[in-house]
Amino acid sequence: MNLNILLIGSGGREHALAIALKKSKSCSELYANPGNPGILEISKFADVNISDHDSISSFCKEKNLDLVVIGPEQPLADGLTNHLTKNGIKVFGPSSEAAMLESSKGFAKKFMKEHNIPTASYECFEKADESKAHDYINTQKMPLVIKADGLAAGKGVVIAESYIDAHSTLDEMFDGRFGDASVSVVIEEFMDGEEASVFAVCDGEDFVTLAPSQDHKRAYDGDNGPNTGGMGAYAPAQIVTEDILSKVNSQIIEPVLKGMKEKGTPFIGCLYCGLMIKDNTVKVVEFNVRFGDPETQSVLSIFEGDLAKLFWSCADGNIDKSSVISVSNGFSCNVVLASQGYPDSYEKGFVITGLDEAEKEGAIVYHAGTKTDDGMIATNGGRVLGVTGVSEVDIESAVIAAYDGVNQIQFENKFYRKDIAFRAMKKSG
Ligand code: AMP
Ligand code: GLY
Repeated sequence: MNLNILLIGSGGREHALAIALKKSKSCSELYANPGNPGILEISKFADVNISDHDSISSFCKEKNLDLVVIGPEQPLADGLTNHLTKNGIKVFGPSSEAAMLESSKGFAKKFMKEHNIPTASYECFEKADESKAHDYINTQKMPLVIKADGLAAGKGVVIAESYIDAHSTLDEMFDGRFGDASVSVVIEEFMDGEEASVFAVCDGEDFVTLAPSQDHKRAYDGDNGPNTGGMGAYAPAQIVTEDILSKVNSQIIEPVLKGMKEKGTPFIGCLYCGLMIKDNTVKVVEFNVRFGDPETQSVLSIFEGDLAKLFWSCADGNIDKSSVISVSNGFSCNVVLASQGYPDSYEKGFVITGLDEAEKEGAIVYHAGTKTDDGMIATNGGRVLGVTGVSEVDIESAVIAAYDGVNQIQFENKFYRKDIAFRAMKKSG
């Protein structure tokens, strides 16, 4: 099999996807857009415009592409898959209808309720029902979770500690704090427990799960500070035991695939299950309809197999599980190097040094917010790099390898968490 592939996206997640696709025996040519300096080192730039779907289908036809892999949620929600499949092009990534599992939290909650998928109890309110929403808050226990319905770049969730907080958060959301994303809100019960992520690679009916992982969403050590897109991750996450994973399969992934197929909108792509685990029970915190960032950088660093063939077979509607050799070939820890000030305001344009040295130390360096500047690599975003350590021995060795790599890399305003994988380290003593 010789697959010519186009990868859409520009983050650390897409750099990890690019490396794994490029390594695949079945991958012949890899194109990318927009890409980043790391991605474009191993792929060809595709001269298309992501929001111009016609430009992408023309490019695919011109280059005889076999598969498009879509990294981020926005083009999925915008119907890029619908457009390409209508034009006879195979896509790994769901249709806009199936992407509603992420693009509308209200849709996802209703779907979970209809299919008995374990999740927090909730109610959904439109702005027109504002007073009912305030009355509902008064009947609930604190803390209470208030979520903007639509896509809000991971920022549309507020955990209100008091009734005053909850009422004012609701007012802010309905006053347009998240623009159109918060014209409708979900108010849900607070769940206690430990979070983890499981990615299911799906063909519309069947699936394989990759190594379970754990993200670190807060900006500062010890899970303090503001929520970010994710400051680091490790895999496999031991909190997802065999028993929990079998519950995730039977209580969550299987009913999602069955329910979406029955609706006439089968789910093809990566189903990201954001989980809350407590006392051997598991509930869904959220679904995403694409790979997580930075979890993917850890998960794919220990994946062994032909990812290109796996994705193509899913897009073809017939998953080829033999293309997976091992989903957990060792242990990995990914530390995000961010710009001081992230997730709020930060400066960019600082030269980065030590990338080769970090790789010589054995770390894998995934580019995210970087750019090429006069032949040098410079910072160009909040999350700049993902430095990943891998070990065949244990998670401790992977953590040490990651931070050895981190220490080699320098740029002005470099900022990172020093405790990635602390829960795993605590568990193993
Ligand atoms: P979401 O975008 O829905 O994943 O929410 C972002 C983060 O908010 C999650 O990763 C959790 O840490 C937290 N969160 C969301 N919903 C709940 C909930 N019902 N109970 C506790 N924490 C939650
Ligand atoms: N790491 C969280 C996300 O990708 O949504």
